[in-house]
Amino acid sequence: MEFDDIADSYVSQRARIPRDLVQWLLKAIEKLHSRTVAEVGCGPAYILQDFSNHAAKLIAIDVSYEMLALVSHRLKTALTIQARGEALPLKDQSADLIVFCRSIHLMDHHLALREAVRISSKAALISVITEAPNEGKYTAAEFCPEISDLRAVSRRAYPTKPQLQEAAEQAGLTLASFRSFEVTSTYTITDYVNYHLLRPFSYSFGVSPTIWENLVSKLNFALRENLDTDGVTDRFIYNSYILTSRTSN
Ligand SMILES: C[S@@+](CC[C@H](N)C(=O)[O-])C[C@H]1O[C@@H](n2cnc3c(N)ncnc32)[C@H](O)[C@@H]1O
Repeated sequence: MEFDDIADSYVSQRARIPRDLVQWLLKAIEKLHSRTVAEVGCGPAYILQDFSNHAAKLIAIDVSYEMLALVSHRLKTALTIQARGEALPLKDQSADLIVFCRSIHLMDHHLALREAVRISSKAALISVITEAPNEGKYTAAEFCPEISDLRAVSRRAYPTKPQLQEAAEQAGLTLASFRSFEVTSTYTITDYVNYHLLRPFSYSFGVSPTIWENLVSKLNFALRENLDTDGVTDRFIYNSYILTSRTSN
């Protein structure tokens, strides 16, 4: 399983979710009555943890056993379920907030949204958060033009806003709110390179592993040649969608 192999390093190398995004979401869920929050493709369940003081029940769902083992360790109050986002073993109308954080691009997003609608309670919200490298200037790009290729591939991985909206409409959802957040993270060169290597980019982005590894090794070389410090800065855009079921309006 792709993410099983990287679960431990994921925790140290992964960019954190912007705090203002979490605050924005927390504000949105105030309206929910009974709060069962499910994160689909939860990984270590960072964002689910942010809801722990605001929810009656937390459900962490992932295909990766290793990721779920991390969740059991880190967030003991969460119920962990090994399942695919496209076929959830949850009852109809059993969750009040369903979150896909940096995970919907790894699923068939049409099926995943339909499943989310099926498990949604009447007033439920569905939150989809996508992550893409910023197109603007940042430290690593100054030294390694090849990174543009990596980043262009990353940007293509997620459904675009029109694609996501179309899939949401087909699943019977309406876009209630949308906001973009920008986050800048600083990594050591080793973490930054390992993060690109270890993340199963090549599979999820449809690039051959050899081409991918070649790009990452050029990145590694360029950074080590040119950077005195071990500080690589990268910027990401987080698009955050809040969707509601049409029947709940
Ligand atoms: C990039 S990680 C995001 C983890 C976490 N939500 C975060 O923001 O840090 C994507 C996660 O989705 C999981 N995943 C991939 N395909 C999936 C699927 N079809 N159904 C459920 N989870 C899936 C992976 O195992 C991985 O843990």
